[in-house]
Amino acid sequence: MDAAAPTTETLTFAEADFTEVLNMRHAVMWPEHPRDFSRVKGDATALHLGAFLGGKLVSVVSLYDSENGLRLRKFATLPEFQGRGIGSRMLQKVIDIAAKDHSRIWLGARLDAITLYKRFGFREFGQRYEKGGRPFCFMERALDEGRDVS
Ligand SMILES: CC(C)(COP(=O)(O)OP(=O)(O)OC[C@H]1O[C@@H](n2cnc3c(N)ncnc32)[C@H](O)[C@@H]1OP(=O)(O)O)[C@@H](O)C(=O)NCCC(=O)NCCS
Repeated sequence: MDAAAPTTETLTFAEADFTEVLNMRHAVMWPEHPRDFSRVKGDATALHLGAFLGGKLVSVVSLYDSENGLRLRKFATLPEFQGRGIGSRMLQKVIDIAAKDHSRIWLGARLDAITLYKRFGFREFGQRYEKGGRPFCFMERALDEGRDVS
């Protein structure tokens, strides 16, 4: 096996430090904008989830309570760790967390990432839009509220 390509065996999930989360959002998602462009309303109370590979923060996603379900935002994996299944495992974790208290999860997705969400049962809804010069669409998935996810 290629030693430079760690498996996801040692991947753990935990709440991440917000400064590190913001740095990762900025570096991975919007490096062409000022760092504060990557802040969003609700960051102070959101759950900032991190995926840690051997203790290193490699992927982040933030979860916000909203009127119409749990909203997923700012999902980013360090470029050198992308394409190894870390984001998929993170998304499954998010769905498990969301299903405890919510009947719906939704997000505004970059169009180039929608196959990932579709694979996890999300469907597109509403009108497509543009942000920061990139095309987006809304995606949602119904959840089994109250199901045992322990
Ligand atoms: C989207 C993202 C978080 C997925 O994380 P990841 O750790 O790469 O996830 P996985 O390895 O499980 O791959 C998930 C899918 O993304 C694709 N992918 C992974 N790295 C990619 C890359 N650099 N470019 C394009 N697609 C990529 C995979 O092929 C896979 O596609 P599939 O579902 O059609 O098989 C990550 O690619 C990323 O940070 N992208 C930049 C920021 C972004 O677009 N965030 C999502 C906003 S909605």
